[in-house]
Amino acid sequence: MRASERLAWAAGVVAPAPGQRVLEVGCGHGVLVDLLAGRPGAGPLVAVDRSATMVAAATRRNRAAIEAGRVSLQTATLATADLLEHSFDVVVSFDVRAFWTPPAPEWDVVRRVLAPGGRVLVAFSVMGPGADEAIRTAVRRVAGERGFAEHAVHRAATAPTPSAAIELRPTPDG
Ligand SMILES: C[S@@+](CC[C@H](N)C(=O)[O-])C[C@H]1O[C@@H](n2cnc3c(N)ncnc32)[C@H](O)[C@@H]1O
Repeated sequence: MRASERLAWAAGVVAPAPGQRVLEVGCGHGVLVDLLAGRPGAGPLVAVDRSATMVAAATRRNRAAIEAGRVSLQTATLATADLLEHSFDVVVSFDVRAFWTPPAPEWDVVRRVLAPGGRVLVAFSVMGPGADEAIRTAVRRVAGERGFAEHAVHRAATAPTPSAAIELRPTPDG
């Protein structure tokens, strides 16, 4: 299905190990939530989106997993989400500009909720020439200020728009 080719690719990049706890920021319609929660051995998944409309759509798509207690959704920005009880092995976002738009307070929350050994994937659609490098530079800057460093960059020729995902991890002295 064309519309979710990029999200299917992203699920493969995130590829949580069995039982790993995942946070998705800006889950939209909940397609990536569905793909990740459906993986064998999937651990608990929390997703937040500031749009109540999006969370309602994501709830409809993931109702069975929510009722089974495997997925929970919150209508909130990442900065205001109730994550006190949580920590995560993987934090992922796709096409969420907040992760590269200063001052990007989202990174402070990510820093707080990421478990030791955790990783962050900032994925985005590459909308034109130079967009990849511009976003990568911006992510490196705002994440670097919070003690994260780029670990890898994943790319794919997804249709209709290519995709990229920057993988970041905390620096040892961050
Ligand atoms: C372009 S949409 C992408 C949705 C989905 N990730 C996808 O790729 O299809 C961006 C989504 O992120 C949400 N969003 C933007 N900034 C956010 C923030 N700081 N915290 C939570 N959600 C946010 C928006 O409400 C919107 O649903």
